[in-house]
Amino acid sequence: MSGTVPVVRSVDALREQVFAWKAEGLRVGLVPTMGALHHGHLSLVDAIATKVDRVVVSIFVNPTQFGEGEDFDTYPRTEEEDRKKLATTPASLVYAPNASEMYPTGFATKVSVGGISDRFEGALRPGHFDGVATVVSKLLLQCLPDVAIFGEKDFQQLAVIRRFVADLNIPVEIMGGTLIREEDGLAASSRNAYLNAEERQVAGLFNVILKGLIAAVSSGTALRQAEEDASNRLLAAGFKAVDYVSVVDPDSLDVLERLDRPARVIAVARIGSVRLLDNMAIDID
Ligand code: PAF
Repeated sequence: MSGTVPVVRSVDALREQVFAWKAEGLRVGLVPTMGALHHGHLSLVDAIATKVDRVVVSIFVNPTQFGEGEDFDTYPRTEEEDRKKLATTPASLVYAPNASEMYPTGFATKVSVGGISDRFEGALRPGHFDGVATVVSKLLLQCLPDVAIFGEKDFQQLAVIRRFVADLNIPVEIMGGTLIREEDGLAASSRNAYLNAEERQVAGLFNVILKGLIAAVSSGTALRQAEEDASNRLLAAGFKAVDYVSVVDPDSLDVLERLDRPARVIAVARIGSVRLLDNMAIDID
């Protein structure tokens, strides 16, 4: 079919293609996604294509990483459109398994990463990172890519993935993809589509307020004070709730007491029915 990227739905068909490429000496990259692709995802395809010869994009809305009451049923499923969008990128193949290919009857294994998975998103969404780590382990082992890329927007997810890939000696290079922003600085996300016009306008202030926090801590404001000020500003701007705003070590995600090393501010705020995630690097002189 022209104007779209070919799709395979089984592990066997995926491996057949990947092994054929490898037999030709080509390097293969994997971009795991849950579909509903936006320019953030497409930028991951472009970024990994600078390192490999063939790019596989997986599309699988993974049930095990959604908690009760979360948006698994309503998560946008737009495979045809996604494949058309991918035709404008260097992607060579879509891998879109169905749930029974990924989790056949009798499936009983879980990948669970200690420590780093327990805080922030892990504390607020119990089981979420077990679901992510399990499906990403499977995707990596199904595709056996040389490189896989994950967006820095889900900063904790990237840290969790780096941890289990190292711990389990999975032979793949993990790349972080730069967080892509909309014109007003809102982090690109498939869930931004859930925002109404008014909420979308407020959402654009998230990154502005985090930049304010960075300016404050860089000029000496204590970290806890700056986090509290940022939370209050978010609430005053119209966010419904703030799950966390924290200045952390970028590798361990330990909460920092002082700005004695390059750090990361990670934050989640709620607006309407949507949880918005953002994070930014904090450099030190
Ligand atoms: O970031 C995502 O879209 C998902 O968590 C991932 C990595 C594709 C696993 O389902």
